[in-house]
Amino acid sequence: MKKIISLSLLLATIGFADMQDAEILAEKKCGECHLMGVTSKEKLDKMKAPPYWAIARKTKEAFATNEERVKFIVDYTFNPKEEKMLFAKDAKIRFGLMPSQEGKVSKEEIELISTYILRMVED
Ligand code: HEC
Repeated sequence: MKKIISLSLLLATIGFADMQDAEILAEKKCGECHLMGVTSKEKLDKMKAPPYWAIARKTKEAFATNEERVKFIVDYTFNPKEEKMLFAKDAKIRFGLMPSQEGKVSKEEIELISTYILRMVED
């Protein structure tokens, strides 16, 4: 319960400076595959995974609260599995299943990155 409260607080109170940190982190840790910001035809042609906004849309459709959405993103990043996928199976056929990022990123970092991802689309 305590953890849920602190996560809601994180999402509600995260400021502009933190958001910039989150953006840098998102680019550094996941940007190799997940596109963000302005896209060009060249970038789209080389795309290795669905873009961030698509993740935001899917998690918002699937879960009612930010807590559940963040929890899903953290879990999936460490332990991706076909049966957990929110994306259609086409995504796996086109890009392959996401490799686990265990050891490359911390839970706290993914939580921060998730707040950035989730702000990309309206609820
Ligand atoms: C080496 C490439 C690669 C990296 C790095 C990567 N991803 Fe992914 N990710 C993918 C691919 C490919 C998919 C689409 C297939 C799938 O869903 O497994 C995906 C899908 C996802 C999904 C949606 C899963 C679904 O189907 O519902 C989430 C959430 C996600 N990534 C989060 C992250 C986060 C957060 C990071 C950075 C910490 C990250 N990814 C880094 C390749 C990557």
